[in-house]
Amino acid sequence: MAERETWATRLGFILAAVGSAVGLGNIWQFPFKTATTGGSAFVFVYLVAALVIGLPAILGEFVVGRRANINAIEAFDRLKHPAWTVVGALGLLTGLWILSYYSVVGGWVIRYIAGSATGAYFAAPADYFARVSMGWEAIAFHAAFMALTASIVAFGIEDGIEKATKLMVPSIVVILVGLAAYAFTLDGAAAAYSYYLSPDFDYIAANLESIVPFAVGQAFFSLSLGMGAMITYASYLGEVDSLPADGSLIVVLNTFVGLLAGLVVIPLLFVQFDGIPDTAAGGGPGALFVSVASALADLGAAGQALGVVFFGVVLIAALSSAISLLEVVTSYLVDNYGASRPTVAFGFAGGLFAVGSLSAWNTAWLGWFDDLAYSVLLPLSVLLGVVFVGWVYGPEAVDELKKGTGGGETFATAWLWSIRTFVLLGVFVTLYLGVSSIFPAPDIPLPAI
Ligand code: TRP
Repeated sequence: MAERETWATRLGFILAAVGSAVGLGNIWQFPFKTATTGGSAFVFVYLVAALVIGLPAILGEFVVGRRANINAIEAFDRLKHPAWTVVGALGLLTGLWILSYYSVVGGWVIRYIAGSATGAYFAAPADYFARVSMGWEAIAFHAAFMALTASIVAFGIEDGIEKATKLMVPSIVVILVGLAAYAFTLDGAAAAYSYYLSPDFDYIAANLESIVPFAVGQAFFSLSLGMGAMITYASYLGEVDSLPADGSLIVVLNTFVGLLAGLVVIPLLFVQFDGIPDTAAGGGPGALFVSVASALADLGAAGQALGVVFFGVVLIAALSSAISLLEVVTSYLVDNYGASRPTVAFGFAGGLFAVGSLSAWNTAWLGWFDDLAYSVLLPLSVLLGVVFVGWVYGPEAVDELKKGTGGGETFATAWLWSIRTFVLLGVFVTLYLGVSSIFPAPDIPLPAI
């Protein structure tokens, strides 16, 4: 058997993982969830979750991937725990589920590239969003995004995407910093910063139950956890890489991009609407589009050009995440069943297009798909992975984590215990709260005793 490929450089792996992690989750979703779920309270819980749960969990996926040296579905077989293949399978399903509506938002982004070129949304940003985000037009652009994703996966122009990704992360940061600096100069931005950045701990304590499932789910989503993606990426890693060092860098970079997007969207919304508008007026899924539109409109013709560049970069970020979601199933079926790459890629894309059309037809569906992903699928899939790494694979996981760290015994052992205890507990509580928010307990008074 040929030697399996490995990443040429450490930076190659980090950029690829960051490229997969940085996507609509950071740029589109994080700011709007923040806006609708308590502002700074959400940000605070998200940061804690990314560090305390996300980092140990991503290391768990890295360990499984590097040790097994194969895709997420077969990894568990290789590790001699075939029953746990269910983790890989659930991850696959979760990824496909998410891709169905991710593509709808990707379609909006394509629409906004065109809209920027003509300045179509300048006059009435919120109305424009309401018009293009649902219905036939949204379905058409959703089809375009899905077709692009499938073509890249089918014909393997990943080379191009890979190069674009290397440019993408720095360009996103530069453009977002520029927009954030612009927002900073606006009158009335101060109230936004306080809404966004100064946590009110009483509020957090009082609303923990509703914030936790969203904020922790957001951390999973944006780190691409629970979808087999990080297992697959780490399967290409050599033994000389330090997983803890790489993992920390990935978590920090990914979180940084989300926070930066918030620094753009929240102040722009505040200034335009005197606070966060309600969901329909642009405070919900439209937040990114409506807020940035208003800033670009201020810049006139330069705003048109900048809009094309900005949404163009967001499109690359979205595509690089979408192809890695579709690639997980495609490579599995191609490698194991000799299926034809284009058939699998276009077949799945066609099916997901159909399912996602519901979300494109009415964003209430999009919200429902998203809620179920956050509240149930992601935490369940991460929970099973954590149980496996902590309690089933335990000592071998420690062994694998140590490689390439030059010692690292103490850290690896502490990591294992964190996985076995508070990480497990945290994910479990998240799942419990998520499930009960979707299926609320019936309001039946307890019998008096
Ligand atoms: N993390 C990506 C984002 O923030 C989206 C995503 C979720 C993803 N799961 C994934 C990308 C799995 C690749 C693989 O937008």
